[in-house]
Amino acid sequence: TTFRIAGICGSLRKASVNKKLLLRAQQLCAERIPSAVIEIVDWSDIPVYNWDLEENPPESVIRFKNDIADRDAMLFITPEYNWSVPGPLKNALDWASRVRLGDRGDVFKGKAVAVMGASPGSAPGSSGSGRAQLILRQSFVSLNCYCINLPTVMVTDAYNAFNEDGSLKNVRLENNIVSVLEQLIALGEKSKS
Ligand code: FNR
Repeated sequence: TTFRIAGICGSLRKASVNKKLLLRAQQLCAERIPSAVIEIVDWSDIPVYNWDLEENPPESVIRFKNDIADRDAMLFITPEYNWSVPGPLKNALDWASRVRLGDRGDVFKGKAVAVMGASPGSAPGSSGSGRAQLILRQSFVSLNCYCINLPTVMVTDAYNAFNEDGSLKNVRLENNIVSVLEQLIALGEKSKS
């Protein structure tokens, strides 16, 4: 059976470079790893977290969590906001960490996850969202997920990093994406059995 990866973009805007990176990862997966597929998860309608709403959790949150539970692994591709995880993405994860899905148990426990990202910055000190990625990984410790460590996928100068056809100009970066996906699948297969 096909290995299904939930693709989650940390930016909601239409012209997002991180969305572009996610689409490229999806394409590379289709071309080079036919046994797996990246399915993009929409979380754009999740409201601001409030414990008072947990009694009657929003439909959008339940759908988001089910979308994750239905997949064998997760791929987060996120920008960096003020050297950290974008608030909206952290909010969505916090919500997902709280709602219960009937008999589906702990959805996050032992789930394989990979993190990538892009930023338009090209000045010295530009991290290609690397600081956000590291901080996001902290939350996966709390959620008891298993994170792929290396190689990193931190795309700097992201407005100039892609070719017209959506591929990345830097071939080593593309190979790193494939390497991370291969490791994600291997780890996910192991934790499934
Ligand atoms: C940013 N940006 C940014 N970039 C970066 O490399 N480090 C940072 O700390 C920040 N901080 C930051 C805060 C806020 C509130 C915004 C809106 C933006 C720039 C950011 O990387 C840029 O807008 C990207 O294009 C966002 O990613 P998407 O939406 O293109 O995927």
